[in-house]
Amino acid sequence: MKDVIIACDFSSRLELNTFLANFTEEKPYIKVGMELFYKEGPTLVTELKERGFKIFLDLKLYDIPNTVKRTMRNLAKLGVDITNLHASGGIEMMKQAKQGLIEGAKGGKTPLLIAVTQLTSTSDFALKDELLINASMADTVKKYAENAQLAGLDGVVCSPLEAPIIAKMDNFISVTPGIRLAGDSADDQMRVTTPKIASDLGSTFIVVGRSITGATNPLAAYRQCIAEFVG
Ligand code: C5P
Repeated sequence: MKDVIIACDFSSRLELNTFLANFTEEKPYIKVGMELFYKEGPTLVTELKERGFKIFLDLKLYDIPNTVKRTMRNLAKLGVDITNLHASGGIEMMKQAKQGLIEGAKGGKTPLLIAVTQLTSTSDFALKDELLINASMADTVKKYAENAQLAGLDGVVCSPLEAPIIAKMDNFISVTPGIRLAGDSADDQMRVTTPKIASDLGSTFIVVGRSITGATNPLAAYRQCIAEFVG
């Protein structure tokens, strides 16, 4: 299952297609986030699927269980391969989300559903003073991952540094951003690891943005990520 997902943080279909022109043989996993989805709409996803790309639709849903369930039904109908939500929406919301995906897939392949535990942009200070959560960040991440597993989800989004905790959980995957090829700038990421280190730490999928999208030769950078991470 191990694979490299390219974070396509582009603002339009045109920019995305210019980037994808680098990939004529490979059909990589593409992460489509809110920026692109809200600009181009669901037809972008169906079009990418028809062209053979695998899609991680990163919309991080968070609402009452019924609304999330009904929305997930629609996302499954688009044929996405992975999608996600916030674990802080609670176990019932996550259960209903999974049910929605199963119903939307209509006996076909149900998309993998993964949970965001705590956003990596949330500091220890904000956790305590803004969100009034008194547990530590590590304990919160662990508890939310356990909740996600209880709800029947497939895994979580987390830092590669947290991947070893997830790797110990049965049949539970980690999708890890914060990846840089050796020598690349960390940009705004606080803690980065290389694809090779993420592999050693037990990540199931790595999400790589700027190390590929900002490379002089994106195809070569992608192939290097695959070589280091998948082997
Ligand atoms: O360019 P870069 O490799 O830093 O991109 C990482 C991608 O992963 C971005 O799309 C970012 O939004 C996403 N992400 C992240 N950290 C999280 C969750 C998602 O960097 N905790």
